[in-house]
Amino acid sequence: MMERKQFLTQMLIGSSLLLTAPALFNSCSKEDDDISGGNNGSSQSETTIDLSASEYSVLSAVGGYAYKNNFIVIRTGNTSYVALSKICTHMGCTVEYSQSANNLPCPCHGSKYTIDGSVINGPATAALKKYSVKVEGALLTIS
Ligand code: FES
Repeated sequence: MMERKQFLTQMLIGSSLLLTAPALFNSCSKEDDDISGGNNGSSQSETTIDLSASEYSVLSAVGGYAYKNNFIVIRTGNTSYVALSKICTHMGCTVEYSQSANNLPCPCHGSKYTIDGSVINGPATAALKKYSVKVEGALLTIS
């Protein structure tokens, strides 16, 4: 009687593993898709933006800005761009760019950062991380 119960228990565990394994595998695949071409803000690899893509056409004008992964990219001049972490260091809201003030306000609690990422006013106390930007043809690379 015990052996039968153990057998049934093992069958149940085995079945549930078989049922959940594809779901686990799928979620891993989805994550892989999500980070393709990006690195979620890690400085270990590069993220690229195709400046000829319509979704980044806003970067064709000086003062335009766009988001890619965890970055905010700002066109600061005819040939110059700045890339910073888009994640406010206060509580993680997405910062914006104000061309008129040339700074990055956070819409959540009013923190402001310079174009270099330094804090102008809080509540944030830590700077936004700044990244290197390289442009070759229509390809902008953040690293
Ligand atoms: S999350 Fe940006 S100021 Fe609070």
